[in-house]
Amino acid sequence: MLTLSNLKKSFGTIAAVDHLSLEIPKGEVFGLLGPNGAGKSTTVNLAVGLIVPDSGNVSIDGSGSPVDVSVRRKIGVAPQSLAIYEEMSGRENVTFFARLQGLRGRELKKSVDWAMEFVGLADRQHDRSNKYSGGMKRRLNLAVAIAHKPLLLLLDEPTVGVDPQSRNAIFDRILMLREEGCTIVYTTHYMEEAQRLCDRVGIIDGGRLLALDAVESLIAKHGGKRMVIAQTNGKRVEVACDDPLAELQRMQSEGELETFHVERPSLESVFLGLTGRSLRDE
Ligand SMILES: Nc1ncnc2c1ncn2[C@@H]1O[C@H](COP(=O)(O)OP(=O)(O)O)[C@@H](O)[C@H]1O
Ligand SMILES: [Mg+2]
Repeated sequence: MLTLSNLKKSFGTIAAVDHLSLEIPKGEVFGLLGPNGAGKSTTVNLAVGLIVPDSGNVSIDGSGSPVDVSVRRKIGVAPQSLAIYEEMSGRENVTFFARLQGLRGRELKKSVDWAMEFVGLADRQHDRSNKYSGGMKRRLNLAVAIAHKPLLLLLDEPTVGVDPQSRNAIFDRILMLREEGCTIVYTTHYMEEAQRLCDRVGIIDGGRLLALDAVESLIAKHGGKRMVIAQTNGKRVEVACDDPLAELQRMQSEGELETFHVERPSLESVFLGLTGRSLRDE
């Protein structure tokens, strides 16, 4: 559905995206995970044709270029910096952008009704959007992206600055869109989100794709060992090991094992393993 081939984009001396290639099949939820400044938004903007690469190629649904009008109608994008007009109502925003995508008449009305309902803003649709909370604005940004029922949806950090309720609503909606066969590219610097939502994850840093695989495979390949964290003989100990059960038995044989739990490596450990840095500290 989306192929990025050897994309490169620099701003002055900064290589924001550095020889990046990706192939995303139809129906996949793909996560692009990386710290701030990694090149996620630049990748999204290149993919949808908002910026032009220095070199490399983008193709959508076969061989379409994102700058062709017919191809654009297959794409929906919710940019990181909200793309809504604050002085218009929620409904006016969605209507305006759906018209730009070519919808008219009854189809336009039906699509806008559906999008407002889908993101849970139907009851507030006539309020000016500058009266919306941060979470509501994010949901409106999503409604704008989906009203024309795109085949490919790109969501750039759709949960930043969002309350937990709106965040859960956004997750549910993404999963519903996936059920309907929509292909989704989701960028985030929150590894828990990538872990929860995505079929495959690409880890990006310094504009380069460091690893790409299913979450479980990334963890198995780059996540390192499991951790046994225990309170034993009044002391807290943390041990990285291949066989937690054997480790616990050893601890038990050496004294009183008071409490313990085992931690699986996460995408956080994968990032640490790949870069030597923590994703959280960014
Ligand atoms: N329009 C621009 N002008 C100059 N530098 C930019 C521009 N857009 C992005 N950059 C730089 O490119 C790098 C990648 O940015 P970005 O793609 O926004 O990262 P992310 O979305 O992962 O936080 C950063 O160093 C950023 O400062
Ligand atoms: Mg960004």
